Amino acid sequence: MSLSIRPVEARDNAAITRIYAHAVRHGTASFETEPPDEAEMARRQAALAAGGYPFLVAALAGTVAGYAYAGPYRARPAYRFTVEDSIYVTPQAQRGGIGRALLERLLDDAQARGFRQMIAVIGDSAQTPSIALHRACAFRLIGTFEAVGFKFDRWLDSVLMQRALGPGGATVP
Ligand SMILES: CC(C)(COP(=O)(O)OP(=O)(O)OC[C@H]1O[C@@H](n2cnc3c(N)ncnc32)[C@H](O)[C@@H]1OP(=O)(O)O)[C@@H](O)C(=O)NCCC(=O)NCCS
Repeated sequence: MSLSIRPVEARDNAAITRIYAHAVRHGTASFETEPPDEAEMARRQAALAAGGYPFLVAALAGTVAGYAYAGPYRARPAYRFTVEDSIYVTPQAQRGGIGRALLERLLDDAQARGFRQMIAVIGDSAQTPSIALHRACAFRLIGTFEAVGFKFDRWLDSVLMQRALGPGGATVP
């Protein structure tokens, strides 16, 4: 089946909202506990676009099967060259190469926009797929915050991984 990775469009919002809602309800990648509705997801997407951050979708035979975006890592201005990535692939399409295709394109797009570091903040140290995906895309493990989240009646760690974009910290922007 044909996979295309492209910038997000307004018509993708319903599918993105559904994919994220499933991850919030059933998974530990997100530390949210109540899925945001379509209006809130559209608002978040507009804020990312206004900030100049990349937002991509993966369309499999014309249907949105996953999405990825880079957003601000932290709000204070000195962090402005550092982004945090988020990637979600619908469960039926996982393990088919979509996550890697999204992340590779996101790395290119973020670098092209002048960002210098990408951080992955991975909810739950038992989150093998996400840790393995980031490692496969040359992120290195920075460390683990222990028991900083509580969801589904258990404590969750937060795993930090990092990858330089382009020259990273070797030159000034
Ligand atoms: C993490 C996630 C985005 C991966 O997407 P995916 O499309 O399934 O990943 P891919 O098929 O592109 O896999 C790429 C690589 O990641 C690793 N990987 C992915 N899933 C894995 C799993 N279940 N176990 C071990 N390694 C895995 C492998 O190295 C894989 O390469 P390979 O297939 O050549 O071995 C997907 O599992 C997902 O949406 N999970 C729920 C949400 C989430 O955790 N998002 C990350 C938030 S930071």
